Order: sequence, then structure tokens, then C-alpha cells
Amino acid sequence: MPSPRVFTATEAADFRTVLGHFCSGIVIVTATIGAEPVGMTCQSFSSASLDPPLIMFLPARTSTSYPRIRSNGRFCVNVLDDSQESISQQFAMSGTDKWRGIGWTPGENGAPVLDGALAWMECSLHREYDARDHVITLGMVERLGAADAGEPLLYFRGTYGQFSARR
Ligand SMILES: Cc1cc2nc3c(=O)[nH]c(=O)nc-3n(C[C@H](O)[C@H](O)[C@H](O)COP(=O)(O)O)c2cc1C
Repeated sequence: MPSPRVFTATEAADFRTVLGHFCSGIVIVTATIGAEPVGMTCQSFSSASLDPPLIMFLPARTSTSYPRIRSNGRFCVNVLDDSQESISQQFAMSGTDKWRGIGWTPGENGAPVLDGALAWMECSLHREYDARDHVITLGMVERLGAADAGEPLLYFRGTYGQFSARR
């Protein structure tokens, strides 16, 4: 085992390098503005509370999609399947046509549920907390579902990967 490298937390690049060692899934947070769908890729997703059922994600203050999502107040968190790496990339590009070639249906709250998502949670905006250059956004889960089969898309050290069960 090589000895660990030590970084300084004040350097943004070092912070990113070390935090990139936390492996996660990827979600697309979606909503609609009138008839127009909006969405953004997020790694910063977690369950937050069981009772009541709350989830959280952290949009950057620079996001142009998040102010639109919050103005609607109802959104959907779509957990990406292993086959959806290109969707993760597509929804990470600000100012582009993120919905080109994307199949979706509106959930009961109107927010887009993406075709082929591994799981989804239809939410209403519960609360926001300041996290300096990001916002901690809590969503109240009102309806949710999951696919019977499939594997998650993973993200680790800036690269996509696959889940493999030990047994
Ligand atoms: C793998 C991955 C994970 C990301 N996670 C987040 C995140 O947790 N929070 C965030 O604000 N942006 C995250 N981004 C960047 C946003 O997706 C991107 O800045 C956003 O979609 C910009 O578009 P917008 O201006 O339409 O909001 C991530 C991008 C990638 C590729």
C-alpha cells in the first residue's frame, strides 16, 4: 500500500482531488418551466431524513438551471443507470440543448422522469441552507420509484465507472 499524500485544504485543486476519492452515483435534477424542461447533473446527492422523507443535493450558485428549478418548487431527482453516462455529460453543459434526444415523461408533480433512470424521487422544495458557493437544498419526497433491474453509473476521481457486487 503506497503512503497517502497530504494536501492543503485551502487550495481548491487539492480539495477537489481529495474529495474526488469519495465515490458516488450521479443524479439529474429536473423540473419544468411552463412546457420547457430544465435539468442539471449532480453528484452531491444524499438521503437526509426518513421521517419525514427528505433528500438533499447541492447546486452551485453559478448554476443557471437551479434558479429555474427552485422557482417551480417541484422537481424530480433521477438516479442514472450505468448506460446513461452520455446523459450525465449532456446535463452538465450549461447553455446547451440538454434535452436533445432525451426521452422523458412528466411525473405526478410535472417534473421530468427520465426514460431508463435507475430510480427517481418526485419532490417539493422543503428548505435551503447557505453553503457559501453552493446551496444545501432539501427536497420532500412525495412519490418515488425504482427499476427492477440495472446497475448504477458511478463517479470516482473524475471518471465514470461501474458497480461490481462482491457476492
Ligand atoms: C459528474 C458531475 C457531477 C456534478 N455535480 C454537481 C453538483 O453536485 N452540483 C452542481 O452544482 N453542479 C454539479 N455538476 C456540474 C453541473 O452539472 C453543471 O455545472 C450544470 O449543469 C451547469 O448547467 P446550468 O447552468 O444549466 O445549471 C456536476 C457535473 C458532473 C459532470
